[in-house]
Amino acid sequence: MIVTIDGPAGAGKSTIARNLAATLGFRFLDTGAMYRAITLGAIRKEIEFDNQASLIAYAQKATIRWDQDKLLLDGGDVTEQIRSPIVTDSIRRIADIAEIRTALSDQQRRIAAGDNIVTEGRDQGTEVFPEAECKLFLTASPLERAKRRHQQLVELGRPIPLHDILTTQERRDEHDRERPLGALRPSEDAITINSDGMTAEDVLQEMLNTVHQVIESRQLNISTAPRAS
Ligand code: DC
Repeated sequence: MIVTIDGPAGAGKSTIARNLAATLGFRFLDTGAMYRAITLGAIRKEIEFDNQASLIAYAQKATIRWDQDKLLLDGGDVTEQIRSPIVTDSIRRIADIAEIRTALSDQQRRIAAGDNIVTEGRDQGTEVFPEAECKLFLTASPLERAKRRHQQLVELGRPIPLHDILTTQERRDEHDRERPLGALRPSEDAITINSDGMTAEDVLQEMLNTVHQVIESRQLNISTAPRAS
């Protein structure tokens, strides 16, 4: 069974998707991390972002693997580095290239093949897994998302003015929405959850209910239980 979760940056997808997968005993796939890894690799190899042929060649041969919660790029642990601002700011130079999207989408389909999976990103329900049994679109208002990000940064001791977060977020949303391929949009058959005013537990519960409803209504033969780690 494939459960897709798409939505804008800052809607809380990653944490909730990971928890949903753990609760169901499904595999979890963070596709944003794959785009981040290729971006980091290109920066490290000093490939010019205007040199599309070299970027494509690099993305097609780079290896991305997970070892438990660690993300390995060409064998090295990049779990922390892929979250750095320079990666976040450069990602669209990678994510806008059709051949790179094809390579990563193919890899996502190989990872999901024959498994029960919760996969999270921007284009999972629309482009990568149009046949997924359960499609969710998690969103929240721009102000709510920016406030959550602000709170996270305060907790990390790196406060940034809310207004600056809102401006950066709006730019990112626009890139994600306007991307020629793999643009952020809910699939027509997706269930949209707006998490404004909801706790992460509320959202998780709503998603769990939805998945169980799909399993029942389609009479899928799937047993859901946390996986032994
Ligand atoms: O979910 P995230 O913030 O880690 O994603 C980082 C960027 O990667 C995001 O701005 C858009 C891109 N992305 C994408 O184009 N397609 C996906 N399936 C996932 C992420």
